[in-house]
Amino acid sequence: MSELRRNNIISADKNEAMKRAISEVYGLMHSRSPKAHIMTFGCQQNTADSERLAGLAAAMGYTVTDSPDGADLILVNTCAVREHAEKKALSVIGQLKHIKAVNPSLIIGIGGCMVSQQHRADTLKKSYPYVDFSFCTTELYRVPELVLARLHGQKRHFPDVKSSLESTDFSEDVPVYRASRSRAWVSIMYGCNNFCSYCIVPYVRGRERSRLPEDIIAEVKDLVADGCLDITLLGQNVNSYGHDLDSGVDFAELLRRLAAIEGDFRLRFMTSHPKDATCELIDVIEANKKIARHFHLPMQSGSDEILRRMNRRYDTEKYSETVRYMREKIPDIVITSDIIVGFPGETEEDFEGTLSMLEKVGFDMIYAFNYSPRSGTPAAKAEDQVPDETKKERFARLVELQNKISEEKNSVELGKTLRVLADDGDDVTTGRTDGNKLVRLSCA
Ligand code: 5AD
Ligand code: SF4
Repeated sequence: MSELRRNNIISADKNEAMKRAISEVYGLMHSRSPKAHIMTFGCQQNTADSERLAGLAAAMGYTVTDSPDGADLILVNTCAVREHAEKKALSVIGQLKHIKAVNPSLIIGIGGCMVSQQHRADTLKKSYPYVDFSFCTTELYRVPELVLARLHGQKRHFPDVKSSLESTDFSEDVPVYRASRSRAWVSIMYGCNNFCSYCIVPYVRGRERSRLPEDIIAEVKDLVADGCLDITLLGQNVNSYGHDLDSGVDFAELLRRLAAIEGDFRLRFMTSHPKDATCELIDVIEANKKIARHFHLPMQSGSDEILRRMNRRYDTEKYSETVRYMREKIPDIVITSDIIVGFPGETEEDFEGTLSMLEKVGFDMIYAFNYSPRSGTPAAKAEDQVPDETKKERFARLVELQNKISEEKNSVELGKTLRVLADDGDDVTTGRTDGNKLVRLSCA
């Protein structure tokens, strides 16, 4: 069956075209010592994608720099998960006009989730004439070809989003330029099939596609051999890894195989969907010390009615049972979560259900978000939207309660000696525990 998947991976022709374009751009540009700057908004998947964009830029002969000033190529990797992220990206893209005015040969390309919506790609084309091209989340490998076309003076390119996202191709050959040597992101799958009713991701990242286990294992082995100490496996719902492959390797088995790789390193993963977080997976974590004692399990709401309307396909009882099993098996596990406040129809009682789940579960930390309607998703059409004022007020109460819980949880760690991986940098003052808690370091 692996053969089937191979056929889905970017065709040999497209890979060859990518490599040809890389070497043509290199031939045209490298003697000019060109610079590239990559800007990233959003989640870890975007961070990982940006490391591929940087890899492509480096292969094309560009030096990757920290500043947009003086750059010959600027790539912006956008996010669409909430309105705020889109506004920020649009404002940054607006600023690029001034940089292009100073340097008209600058090439600007915009990718990521925001521009994987047709209306956004159309807006860029019409209202941002200094943007040279945009590309969907599924088309990173096309960036060299798009840069080359502009270097040859060909017209600007904006995608037909629907057909780009229908393509299930992805490439194992896109070079990666990793920001850190000690920590790395490894995508194990792309896309999402869950269609939570508030979420734009399935519309901008396409259907779930898993990488082959042997490709993931080879990448992790290379990283470990290279001295990498902390590896995070990425996917929108890692628990459904392998369901499209029929290779006999599901997520629990993949973790088992990765944890068997020799060397001193830690494995993390995100994100897990509570509907698919199995006892088997928890048992695998318990049995393998290389897998970090941290589980990020987005609960989203503590009201069964809201969870139903969110199309999450679990209820608070199932969620609590998963947490109970985790704590029984791995008492020191750190559990974190995502919570959305003010989903359409959320009553005071629903919200109090969320507060009481916070107390019951005792999360070590949460990421809290005010619900942001995303055009094209079912929840955005609901008539019973919660007023902004109410969202703000509930958000403040949620954060206040969680701060208290986090403080209690963290105070238990005081006085302990923990193994911490220091962050990268020259004057390092912070690091992460096995449970991914941030700690301040001071040299005695
Ligand atoms: N509004 C607010 N938060 C959202 N998230 C996803 N979509 C939305 C939205 N429309 C949050 C969820 C998810 C996290 C990555 O972002 O909590 O788990
Ligand atoms: Fe969005 Fe739900 Fe998919 Fe997560 S699982 S990316 S919240 S649709």
